[in-house]
Amino acid sequence: MDEIKKVVVIGSGIMGHGIAEVFALSGYSVILEDVIPESLSRARASIEKSLARMLASGKLDQGKKDRTMQLIGYSQNLAESARDADLIIEAVPEVMDLKRQVFEDVSKVAKQGAIIASNTSNISITELSKSVPDPARFVGLHFFNPPVLMKLVEVIRGESTSDEVFELMFKLSQEIGKKPIRVNRDRAGFVVNRISAPEGLFFSAVLDNGIARPEEVDAFAKSQGLPMGPYELMDYVGIDTVVHSMEYYSSTLSGEFTRFRTLKEKMDRNELGLKTGRGFYEWKDGKAVIPAATPTDKIQLLDIFAIDVNEAVRVIEEGIATPEDIETGVKLGLNRPFGPISVAQGLSNSEIKGKLEEIARNLGCDYFLPARSIQEGRLREVINSKPAPAEARPEGEKISHAQESNAVSTLPQHEGELIMVRREGPVTYLELNNGRLNLLNSQMLDELEEKIESFRKDRETRVIVFRGKSGVFSAGAELSQFFSGGIDFMETDRKGQRVFSALTELPQVTIAEISGYCFGGGFELALACDIRITSDVAEMGLPEVTRGLVPGWGGTQRLPKLIGGSRAAYMILTGERIKGARAMNIGIAWDSVPAESLSERVTSVATKIATEVAPTSVATAKTLIYKGIDTAITTGLDMEAISMGMLFGTEDIKEGVSAFLQKRKPEFKGR
Ligand SMILES: NC(=O)c1ccc[n+]([C@@H]2O[C@H](COP(=O)([O-])OP(=O)(O)OC[C@H]3O[C@@H](n4cnc5c(N)ncnc54)[C@H](O)[C@@H]3O)[C@@H](O)[C@H]2O)c1
Repeated sequence: MDEIKKVVVIGSGIMGHGIAEVFALSGYSVILEDVIPESLSRARASIEKSLARMLASGKLDQGKKDRTMQLIGYSQNLAESARDADLIIEAVPEVMDLKRQVFEDVSKVAKQGAIIASNTSNISITELSKSVPDPARFVGLHFFNPPVLMKLVEVIRGESTSDEVFELMFKLSQEIGKKPIRVNRDRAGFVVNRISAPEGLFFSAVLDNGIARPEEVDAFAKSQGLPMGPYELMDYVGIDTVVHSMEYYSSTLSGEFTRFRTLKEKMDRNELGLKTGRGFYEWKDGKAVIPAATPTDKIQLLDIFAIDVNEAVRVIEEGIATPEDIETGVKLGLNRPFGPISVAQGLSNSEIKGKLEEIARNLGCDYFLPARSIQEGRLREVINSKPAPAEARPEGEKISHAQESNAVSTLPQHEGELIMVRREGPVTYLELNNGRLNLLNSQMLDELEEKIESFRKDRETRVIVFRGKSGVFSAGAELSQFFSGGIDFMETDRKGQRVFSALTELPQVTIAEISGYCFGGGFELALACDIRITSDVAEMGLPEVTRGLVPGWGGTQRLPKLIGGSRAAYMILTGERIKGARAMNIGIAWDSVPAESLSERVTSVATKIATEVAPTSVATAKTLIYKGIDTAITTGLDMEAISMGMLFGTEDIKEGVSAFLQKRKPEFKGR
């Protein structure tokens, strides 16, 4: 990026060293600044360790590791390092006066035009910007921990931040491989922390009202698939930290955040959780000793969903972020499979309103009452809303056109196509492109359906190869959509079945190039292809039964037909994974080859089919094979004979026979 060449990160702690590493990995020259020399040496060691892990897992090579290390300098001399910096990011502890002092010091030495950013989790960007001479060039850049792994960056606009700086930081965050969201108004908690804030209030109120015991609630959370329940998590994070954040929201969002006493009492007794060995639970060897308990039936998932949706609606009403950015922020920032907007899409206004009124009544807490738009029955309108035009907004809330055009859809958009198409003559490669694990989602099924439709009429393409862009074929279906009920779930299942059946019915030959992981829905996609070629180290399987599901996109039907009932039953009923070589031995894959030669092998098979085989024969043979599987052999044989009669009239048969007789290569036309 032209405007930003040199970056300085002030504070080399947990966040600062990670932010520096992220920039250096993208080729930026970075100086890490700290007042404590040991912090700098710890930061250097942590960066070195993190890069070594990436090297070991093949994410970067030795050259890139060395270059990244060289791009990071370490300094205790702010005047020297910040002098020619284009971007200065502050990541010192969350103490207002300390941050203010840092910005005053920076302002004395930074060049004119430098952009100054804060990684604060909570402090107002507008307040902080008052410590620099040019608040228009001050912005919030909120990375998540650990910055190297967490994709999300909240780009926060203070009241004086210029459009230019705001948009530049948004683009820069994209350039360093992050997924930024725009926080258009500087309000407590920004987006992600704000959405989760009332959950803390809810669990405090549950305790004070004696609704359920911590272990019963945590047992419930675990029964829903969460790795940790809310009280175990509070113990883990530190009850003092939780209380401080509640105090912060009490002074910014609502006084009710500090009305509930149990948490505060725990803090006063120094029962802070893991760090003091006792909180809600005893902690031994880093683990909570949680009394056995039956999951409570006094709390439902819908309670949490409704609270999250309510807060998301408030965030939209206050003009802080678009529905699309809220969804992305919650998914990426809280590592959740779905955010409050997709939850709201699956529920009615009255369901959420009724639920919120019930929670507010039962817990005696007005903060849970429905937000204005929900009270007025306008939930759907709000979650599908675009930001208001700039001129309709109060002063200081102007948003750029770029933002408006980005806010049309309510669901997160992936950067780039989820299925990338690469044509090489008669072979078309479809590369699944949804992050490292290539999880299949509803949007990918839509894209695939569209592409299958266009292949039907495509005379040029003879072979279609599916592969994973990240080196992982597909680790399964993304369970990221909220389903309002069984019918909704069934309809989505049918959609996958429909798309995979359409794939099987294509006239072209389809090949699955299986590398990395190939599980669940991803494995079912491979099963819907005609040919599977795998790498020796690829792993495949149908783990659905271990999650309370069954394979739903054709796995229970195609696998037994492919490898026989006994083997299929073992794979489906145990959910066990198998490797490439075994997949070949039991007939799932035609071939299993070393990982490094997989693409070459697949391309050679695809090219051979595409250039040597008559398309009319292929299309007919595919129909005979797949229809034949479901048909009595006498009918199948009849179909075969009729097909031969039909093929007799094609140009391809004439070309095939005469090329054979003339000992030359045939040139099939597909007619
Ligand atoms: N830790 C998280 O999970 C997380 C996540 C997002 C944002 N944040 C925010 O990031 C900021 C930093 O948090 P952290 O967890 O990295 O803190 P940390 O305590 O790990 O690191 C802070 C570093 O700043 C250094 N420092 C202190 N005063 C300094 C000064 N005057 N000049 C230069 N360096 C100075 C300290 O020596 C230390 O190395 C905070 O505002 C925090 O709210 C933290």
